[in-house]
Amino acid sequence: MSLLLLLAFACSRPIPLQTMAVEPAPLDLSGADPTRGEHLARAVLACTECHGDDLAGTEMTSGFPVGRLVAPNLTTLDYQSADWIRAIRHGVAADGRTLVLMPSDDYAVLSARDLADVVAWLETLEPVAHELPESRLGPIGQMLVKKGDWPRTAERIDHAAPVPGTAPASEATLARGSYLATVSGCSGCHAGGPGKSMGPGVRSANLTPHEDGLAGWDRDDFAAALQQGRRPDGSTLDPMMPWRHYAALPPADVDALWAWTQSLPAQPDP
Ligand code: HEC
Ligand code: HEC
Repeated sequence: MSLLLLLAFACSRPIPLQTMAVEPAPLDLSGADPTRGEHLARAVLACTECHGDDLAGTEMTSGFPVGRLVAPNLTTLDYQSADWIRAIRHGVAADGRTLVLMPSDDYAVLSARDLADVVAWLETLEPVAHELPESRLGPIGQMLVKKGDWPRTAERIDHAAPVPGTAPASEATLARGSYLATVSGCSGCHAGGPGKSMGPGVRSANLTPHEDGLAGWDRDDFAAALQQGRRPDGSTLDPMMPWRHYAALPPADVDALWAWTQSLPAQPDP
């Protein structure tokens, strides 16, 4: 082993163990629709962005000095429906670990029906053989967890909040847009509208109707960016913007998200 590799290994640690006891509220899964759940998990919640197209897991980062953060293989977990709900809505694994980077603070507002459909789909997954190593964080990764840049979202969630009844219907455009903006992570990544720095050289865009944002865009410009990763000037969006997932959103959901951006107060870039 080279000296550098040896050093990298010596400076790497597993994710520090923190646990939380959460008992998810019971959820009625009768009549849940796994096909709709698959659509939600892929196009809206983008579970596949981190856990891979077949949910068999990915190494989200690897290499010194950040280290290795693994989004685990979801197809081989021994999970009951309460365990799925605990992970999705509460950010806590079946064994009580608070999960790093799992965007459960966004998923916490999922409606009972949407959550039930997603769980119904997860319960149909056939095991996919894909061995992944354990997460092992280098000095930068350890710092990101410590500072909360890679958050343990369980710490931000009101675990006693009841599961909301039904998701706003497609017709109630702005209410639906706000719901989608939360559960799809638009609001999180775009800092509620004006955007923010997402690491060296990448900034999430300003989505408010300001000159620095989407002033001058129309609904179809927005749809092209959201679903094809293309700006009105023909340039392509950074792959950090997960537009490939949003490509499958139905037109009514794109209308709703557009209405959400247009409802935001115009704000300059921070
Ligand atoms: C932004 C990336 C990201 C997205 C999106 C995401 N996850 Fe995760 N998930 C992670 C990471 C990273 C971990 C491992 C965290 C850790 O080890 O502390 C994780 C852990 C989990 C676990 C815990 C498994 C275990 O027992 O170790 C489950 C279950 C899970 N995710 C399910 C989902 C589902 C279902 C969705 C979509 C509704 C989803 N995740 C979306 C990143 C993500
Ligand atoms: C994981 C973080 C992330 C999520 C989730 C996310 N975005 Fe983005 N988005 C970005 C980044 C980063 C950029 C800037 C890309 C670039 O500069 O090339 C961007 C760019 C955009 C743009 C282009 C704007 C412009 O002026 O160029 C639009 C429109 C947009 N996002 C809308 C959305 C909507 C709507 C959602 C939710 C359905 C969403 N984004 C979810 C990170 C994200």
